[in-house]
Amino acid sequence: MKAYFTEQTNFYGSSKPSELLREFGSPLYVYNESILRQRCREMAGLVPYSNFRSNYSIKANSNLELLKIVREEGLHADAMSPGEIHVLLAAGYRPEEILFVANNVSAEEMQYAIDKGVVVSCDSLSQLRQYGRLDPGGKVAIRFNPGVGAGHHAKVVTGGENTKFGINPEMIDEVRAILKEYRLRLAGINQHIGSLFMEPSRYLQAAKALLDIASNFEDLEFIDMGGGFGIPYRKQEGQQRLDITETGRGIAQLMEEWTSNYGKKVRLKIEPGRYVVAECGVLLGTVHAVKQNGSKTFIGTDIGFNVLIRPAMYDSHHDIEFYRDDVILKTETQVATVVGNICESGDILAKDREVPDVVEGDMIGVMDAGAYGYSMASNYNNRLRPAEVLIGLDGTPRLIRRRDTFEDLMRGFL
Ligand code: LLP
Repeated sequence: MKAYFTEQTNFYGSSKPSELLREFGSPLYVYNESILRQRCREMAGLVPYSNFRSNYSIKANSNLELLKIVREEGLHADAMSPGEIHVLLAAGYRPEEILFVANNVSAEEMQYAIDKGVVVSCDSLSQLRQYGRLDPGGKVAIRFNPGVGAGHHAKVVTGGENTKFGINPEMIDEVRAILKEYRLRLAGINQHIGSLFMEPSRYLQAAKALLDIASNFEDLEFIDMGGGFGIPYRKQEGQQRLDITETGRGIAQLMEEWTSNYGKKVRLKIEPGRYVVAECGVLLGTVHAVKQNGSKTFIGTDIGFNVLIRPAMYDSHHDIEFYRDDVILKTETQVATVVGNICESGDILAKDREVPDVVEGDMIGVMDAGAYGYSMASNYNNRLRPAEVLIGLDGTPRLIRRRDTFEDLMRGFL
């Protein structure tokens, strides 16, 4: 028997999918507050080490209301751009709760963070020099590349020599020279080796490598081991969860061993994005056409890759549910390809998937769409980005971002 996530979790609360689509339009991002808080708590308490803090990586989902909930649950944040810093400050995060993990940023962008009092992590010697020129005598962080990578697709592996990220630890002498030249104090070091691992061995290997690098520097305030904690995207097939207890214990053990030599209980940070928000989001949509092209059956929906790009960009799998009259269709009768409404043949949501006997007017729910869903959505084909709705703890829905309008499409023109 397949597992149906929205049924198991009472995902839509007191609403029916059809009511949500009628009220807020189709397609629609629906988030469940109870699941979000649960995942926040798992990450906030991941590592049994007394000076530990989880930084939510807001690139995964930067909806203002979700950011407020994440902060309420005790997470701090990392940002990748001045825009992300701006939104975090608007959501109530204090500057000292934010780390700007900068990559190839301009002097103006760096200055923005400095002016706001946000610590900047530099990931090349060029950027470190730029920082030194802007804020001599200031406090800075450095992103290293531990030489180890991990991830669900080459495009999201961010450690190792084939990636643009981080400073190679062989350059520590040059790093020291730049710190000295500009009288910079190194507050912390960080890394992120990639996105979506389901067992912790590589993460732990990289963590060990980062701690070896940390031993080269005195009086660090923090060590940030990055994100990448995976979620099971194939729940319908019974995929197991990442063992977070084992993962947390493994990290704690490394930290304790390292601390006994270093002599100071340095703050440990991690940067989960996906783990916090992926599973609290379902993308609801509507089936508009079912057709046959030769031997292939296509199910045409309003969920194009402008709304959810992960399948088109990384061949990512998302579990899918279909609903008729708000009841999940559970009997699979055919193999079909589920597609969107964008003018490209790569606009595929699910290829050759076993699906029920779907007809026009049925509804579709794409599971685990809370991370890198809306945050990577676009107006390609001048389509409107969908609204976002939060099912609160009392089970009722609340609009937390309105759908785009035609005025939004025209906004930038002079
Ligand atoms: N820290 C840094 C510096 C990062 O670059 C990232 C993600 C994270 C933390 C959070 O990683 P997470 O815990 O979410 O795996 N769009 C892709 C994922 C790209 C991740 C980019 N960096 C996807 O949809 O799979």
